[in-house]
Amino acid sequence: MDQFKQYRNFLKDSIRKTINFQASDQHRGRAAPPLQEPVDGQLPRIALPERKGWEPFIQKTDVKDAIGNRRSRRQYGEDHLTLEELAFLLWATQGQRKPGDLPPHFRTVPSAGARHSFETYLFINKVETLTPGLYRYLPLSHELVLLYSADSQTKTKLSRAALGQQFVSKGAVVFVWTTVPYRMEWRYLEAAHRVILLDAGHVCQNLYLACEAIQAGTCAIAAYDQEAMDELIGVDGEEQFTIYLAPVGKY
Ligand SMILES: Cc1cc2nc3c(=O)[nH]c(=O)nc-3n(C[C@H](O)[C@H](O)[C@H](O)COP(=O)(O)O)c2cc1C
Repeated sequence: MDQFKQYRNFLKDSIRKTINFQASDQHRGRAAPPLQEPVDGQLPRIALPERKGWEPFIQKTDVKDAIGNRRSRRQYGEDHLTLEELAFLLWATQGQRKPGDLPPHFRTVPSAGARHSFETYLFINKVETLTPGLYRYLPLSHELVLLYSADSQTKTKLSRAALGQQFVSKGAVVFVWTTVPYRMEWRYLEAAHRVILLDAGHVCQNLYLACEAIQAGTCAIAAYDQEAMDELIGVDGEEQFTIYLAPVGKY
């Protein structure tokens, strides 16, 4: 059907044949964009437990069990996540694979050309020792930065931005992934956007599987109010915007 043609074409890799990759910013010698957006140095930072610190608290889980038990879970209990559990989920979704040993663009998730165009924002509601509010994960230093504390309206705004999906704001933490498309465009030009979406699937799938290891549940969310969500997390909607989200809670 004609109405779908352009969108179906977006799913194909045919565009590659039309692109002059020698015109890419990478090919022209422009410096690569940073792997992590800059952070306001005045904002409070929280060091997360490194792998050695969180590993004793995360029970060993058979990968067959994690895959077999995985499902979208939309009901969450009252229990808080520990900081160790949150650190584990962040490592599983965007963490560096071997900090210090491998370059920082080798993460626990694959990414086309290892360009990793994502940033992770977290609406924290019930995580031990953390004040509820909006945070950002800094994968290069494995820290959180507090962007703002929650007020009485935050959960309502979050549910609204999730198009009224109430369970989203009932999670202990909501992962909101943004993309910074230029990180991918710098190398792949118009072929960047399809692989950004493919990359996003890996991130959320790792969250699903990691949740199974801590008796927590999650649910991928791709239906949300783009402008409202971008405003809530404070991104400009052009150079950086929301691409996917997932609430997490104990069940
Ligand atoms: C790309 C994508 C977008 C989704 N968006 C939503 C959503 O906005 N709201 C929701 O409740 N579930 C959403 N889901 C979850 C699906 O409904 C769920 O994966 C599907 O019903 C299969 O169930 P299962 O995950 O338990 O196997 C989404 C899943 C994916 C992969």
